[in-house]
Amino acid sequence: MIEITDLNKVYKAGTRALKNVNITIEDGEFVFIMGRSGSGKSTLMKLLLKETEPTSGRIIVNDMDLTRMPRRYVPKYRRRLGVVFQDFRLLKDKTVYENVAFAQRVIGVPIRTIRENVPEMLRLVGLSSKYKSYPNELSGGEQQRVAIARALVNSPEILLADEPTGNLDAHNSMEIMGLLEKINDRGTTVIVVTHSQEIVSQMGRRVITLDRGIVLDDSGEGGIYDEN
Ligand SMILES: Nc1ncnc2c1ncn2[C@@H]1O[C@H](COP(=O)(O)OP(=O)(O)O)[C@@H](O)[C@H]1O
Ligand SMILES: [Mg+2]
Repeated sequence: MIEITDLNKVYKAGTRALKNVNITIEDGEFVFIMGRSGSGKSTLMKLLLKETEPTSGRIIVNDMDLTRMPRRYVPKYRRRLGVVFQDFRLLKDKTVYENVAFAQRVIGVPIRTIRENVPEMLRLVGLSSKYKSYPNELSGGEQQRVAIARALVNSPEILLADEPTGNLDAHNSMEIMGLLEKINDRGTTVIVVTHSQEIVSQMGRRVITLDRGIVLDDSGEGGIYDEN
């Protein structure tokens, strides 16, 4: 469970990126974070990843208080999260297989386990046949699926995706959303940042809307523009 209480983030320049934010996300939920550019969505993601510190307030992720977490524990904590970005962030000189395997290699997973896990992840994202390809030989949608496989290979409890379809067309965007739903069905909590009203409407999931750092709305299904 994620419990965010009275969270404030003021950047050095004086920008109040988040104002008294309160959000609870249960295990296994699929949640959209919506809002215009500059509304604080990425700041919220960075706070969850402990890439930046709150000015005040509390963030508890699966019983761990992030503001009290010792620095030496942060890398271990981050491994419990999967992260996906708008710009994919794949290693250009590595194949699809190596990109996913790398996430396991850096934490010392035995090679035999890697050889089992990577093909399984590539199957999950529908890229088994492309395992030898390099990122520049793939479409945007395929690159994002590699990034998702990489984010999932270490079995994170929570997947954070910051505008994962920001560089994709409508068709590829919905494919990625379908994949994120499939991952959610397997039990992973999924938090997706988007500014696409269309995606949010089509998905019918919980939507938390941020507006200039304030939680404007936290609806059940369909978002603030939908009556159900
Ligand atoms: N590292 C930073 N230093 C100073 N201001 C920042 C920084 N990151 C973001 N901001 C500001 O905080 C506000 C929220 O930004 P951000 O969280 O990136 O919004 P979003 O992801 O919704 O577009 C914006 O006004 C932005 O300019
Ligand atoms: Mg952003």
